[in-house]
Amino acid sequence: MCGIIGYVGPRLSQDILLAGLSRLEYRGYDSAGIAVIDADGGLGMRKRAGKLAVLREDLEASPMPNGTTGIGHTRWATHGGPTDANAHPHLADDDKLAVIHNGIIENFAELKSELVGEGVGFRSETDTEVAAAMIGREYARTGDLVQAFRAVVSRLEGAYTLLAMHQDHPGLVVGARRNSPLVIGLGEGENFLGSDVAAFVEHTRNALAIGQDEIVAITPDGVEVTDFSGAPVEVEAFEVTWDASAAEKGGWSSFMAKEVSEEPEAVANTLRGRIHEGRVEIPELEGLDAFLADIDRILVIACGTAAYAGMVGKYALETWTRVPVDVELAHEFRYRDPVLSERTLVVSISQSGETMDTLMAVKYARSRGAKTLSICNTQGATIPRESDAIVYTHAGPEVAVASTKAFVAQITALYLLALHVGRVRGAIDPVVAVDAVTELEAVPSKIARVLESEQSRIEQLAHWMADTRSVLFLGRNVGYPIALEGALKLKELAYIHAEGFAAGELKHGPIALIEPGQPVFVVVPSPRGSGEMHKKVVSNIEEIRARGARVIAIAEEGDVAVLPAADEVLRIPLASPLFEPLLAVVPLHIFAMGLAEAKGLDVDQPRNLAKSVTVE
Ligand code: F6R
Repeated sequence: MCGIIGYVGPRLSQDILLAGLSRLEYRGYDSAGIAVIDADGGLGMRKRAGKLAVLREDLEASPMPNGTTGIGHTRWATHGGPTDANAHPHLADDDKLAVIHNGIIENFAELKSELVGEGVGFRSETDTEVAAAMIGREYARTGDLVQAFRAVVSRLEGAYTLLAMHQDHPGLVVGARRNSPLVIGLGEGENFLGSDVAAFVEHTRNALAIGQDEIVAITPDGVEVTDFSGAPVEVEAFEVTWDASAAEKGGWSSFMAKEVSEEPEAVANTLRGRIHEGRVEIPELEGLDAFLADIDRILVIACGTAAYAGMVGKYALETWTRVPVDVELAHEFRYRDPVLSERTLVVSISQSGETMDTLMAVKYARSRGAKTLSICNTQGATIPRESDAIVYTHAGPEVAVASTKAFVAQITALYLLALHVGRVRGAIDPVVAVDAVTELEAVPSKIARVLESEQSRIEQLAHWMADTRSVLFLGRNVGYPIALEGALKLKELAYIHAEGFAAGELKHGPIALIEPGQPVFVVVPSPRGSGEMHKKVVSNIEEIRARGARVIAIAEEGDVAVLPAADEVLRIPLASPLFEPLLAVVPLHIFAMGLAEAKGLDVDQPRNLAKSVTVE
């Protein structure tokens, strides 16, 4: 939440900051601002409530002096509503110091009253301005910005990435991080700081990951990283594996449209390099096999869509490893007294790798002796860095706030993990494992077929349903998390009441919601291989049809049993039951996106949300 960029170098910074912010806007988009130190050594600042476009227009209408050192911010409001005054940067030290922040300073009220007691005035309701005032106060004592950071960070509680620059020091941007992301981009004669590499990938793919509780100072020619006490620390270098064009729309109407179209690739890229002669070997897990062979429990922690991927993964993990698996929302996990042991494998799933709830759960699990494995889509992010092992999904940058291609990549990674662990434990029959690999390898082309054959029909359906006020989603077994995902996507993109239910649960209460005309999507399991489940779900359809529901079934090609019961049937290619979720979710992603578009909504940046939820 909140996107941050800093630049020092020979080039004029305003355009660099605005371009970087436009790539970070998915992190928060209720206000934006920049500050630059101009050629005369003065500090200029402009900030506006609203999306980045508002700030851009403001700067075009009344340009401010440009300079070669700058910081920029795009906000997701925490303390104080989205107003001009609460937007970042915040100024201190007689407006010579500019500060931007991502995170929440939990003890800000206490610090603020200390400052108010000293006669400091405030122009906003934010916690950030308190940090700015404290840095300003320290700077006034020493004239050393890094020193001022060191003095202040130890007093701040909570999560933060802070960047600051002072007009007395053109060519210097200082940053600090605790539990919030910050990475360095290394250029030639110029350097960058960013919430993630998207901030600077247009200029450089050489990056350094800043660790927890570290302070960084960048100048055009150098980077210095120390811990909070001032001791130099080693930083981990990495090369960004995607280029700027991957984070651009490339002719698509929205990032989401592009990302849904990339679902086949997201699966294929996540499989790449992890299947050898028909067997799954995840190189990243080398060295962990002895532990994996001996685990007695797997606990999956994640939030939102990533948690639904975890719920799908549970079925495969239990089937192929015979280890009991629990899936838990990360924000619930930490606030009880969970049973963990040295034989527990805790698998976190996070597209961004920065979700605070998940990060805190990972840290907690580690502190309680469990081994942690991160399934993550973002290189250099905090969660993988805080974990014992990492399996990256290779979905490429996901810019639209609602997750789509990352979801199918996460399920793929979980299936790979299940096959890997099943093999090292000797729990899976090698023939079954080979069949599973064959099925996995076929998934990209099957998703592509769904996109080809069903997309326009689903979009038309969404268009017809633009005035719908409520949609229900039903699924059973692996179809249940897909029903939850379909409902979540519709809520967040189209602002429609939507709920997902386990189909068998219907008769225990939710069936009371069915009235004539109520649209219900039903994920229908394959009639082949799902045992009784297919029949049971068809019966559930009959039950709601009898009460007037309008049923849209997602069913396998050739499943004729659903025809009499359903009003519409969206087809997916044949697959074994465990692999159906990877196909059945695609129509639901298309539908939510199509309905939001039919309502004229912004599918990339839905209201009130941010992609990277870095507050608890
Ligand atoms: C929904 C969505 C969210 C995220 C959740 C976790 O479309 O995108 O529910 O899945 O906030 O985010 P990550 O995966 O970044 O930890």
